[in-house]
Amino acid sequence: MADVVTTTPPSQAKPARLDPHRLRADFPILATLNRFGKPLIYLDSAATSLKPLTVIEAVDGYNREYSANIHRGIYEMAERATASYEETRVKVARLINAPHPREIVFVRNATEAINLVAYSWGRHNIGRGDSIVLTEMEHHANLVPWQLLVQEKDGDLEFVPVTDDGLLALEVYEALLHLRPKLVAFTHVSNMLGTINPVRQLTEMAHAAGALVLIDGAQAVPHVPVDVQEIGADFYVFSGHKMLGPTGSGALWARAELLEAMPPFMAGGDMIREVHLRRSDWNEIPYKFEAGTPDISAQIGMGAAADYLMSIGMDAARDYEQELVRYALDVLPREVPGIELYGPAAEYRGGVVSFNLPGIHPHDVAQILDRSGICVRAGHHCTMPLHERFDLAATARASFNVYTVPEEIDALAAGLRDVVRIFNR
Ligand code: ALA
Repeated sequence: MADVVTTTPPSQAKPARLDPHRLRADFPILATLNRFGKPLIYLDSAATSLKPLTVIEAVDGYNREYSANIHRGIYEMAERATASYEETRVKVARLINAPHPREIVFVRNATEAINLVAYSWGRHNIGRGDSIVLTEMEHHANLVPWQLLVQEKDGDLEFVPVTDDGLLALEVYEALLHLRPKLVAFTHVSNMLGTINPVRQLTEMAHAAGALVLIDGAQAVPHVPVDVQEIGADFYVFSGHKMLGPTGSGALWARAELLEAMPPFMAGGDMIREVHLRRSDWNEIPYKFEAGTPDISAQIGMGAAADYLMSIGMDAARDYEQELVRYALDVLPREVPGIELYGPAAEYRGGVVSFNLPGIHPHDVAQILDRSGICVRAGHHCTMPLHERFDLAATARASFNVYTVPEEIDALAAGLRDVVRIFNR
């Protein structure tokens, strides 16, 4: 296991301006055409990001050159696989400034990480009458596992409301903390509104009330500098596939003492130290939580993605995406008659713009945009309660990443004008 991470945390990295046109050359898929012969205008990065060549090559390299299992073989190729897999842990720890790579547990995605915490920590720490505070803007992944937990344990869920501006109502949060919840769990960046929550402040308030804090960082790690030590949270989860890495990769970061105290989530090979017919001892962390052969190539690809993001610099990524969202919030209402936008002002928002066109279902919007090569997501984006909060059945959503360029937002505006024209003919 590698030593303590001592590199500069991403939030202190020197900001260098990002050149999206140069970065685009790193993403082979951006050179492809859709079935109508149109170039790809990919505005669905919140669903999953595109993958740069270095990530594709890292996955391919493992499969072509050293596709042995990890933590088992003592031959050179197997040792190479283990080393490469464990290097990813160091890179991921560095990306979020975790104190030590052994606090990084590999999982398939943020959803699995939250389920792991709900089953392992939750089932041993939540009892009858205990409350968990969530927010109205949670993705189903940070909602349903807690519903199952409190149903089983006879606990309670409380919710921080979302204001009309798409921000968390902090005065209600403060009041809910008087209930002395055991856990507070919230998203760092909303996948529907784009809201960037004040995670450090929320965490400090929760700790002052005696609660542990879990943060869903799926929409944050690819877009803003994340420093888990500075935030001070207890659990931080994210997916590889939204941060330019492969599907099937992801991570849970948790403080070592919490992981040490938590029982295993899944049982099987690799998570044990000793097995007898009637009892077993667990491996050290993080392996205690990594039963069975993982998606080795995906995790290695996630390491390449972490390298890629660190080479750009997360301050630069954040600055650039803020420029993009500012541009979109300016252009779309000016150019698209009647468009309704949801979410806060650009300064509180990541690269996500959810919207509706009056009287036109978002599925129709997405389908017509597709003919012009423009990919947006339409539906409830796994946030049905948040849509209910705004009295919406569905929205269309454009979401950005470091390879998005303003010209694509112009194309979206033109595409939406076409949609309005077609429907009003
Ligand atoms: N959670 C992903 C999204 O927001 C799938 O689209």
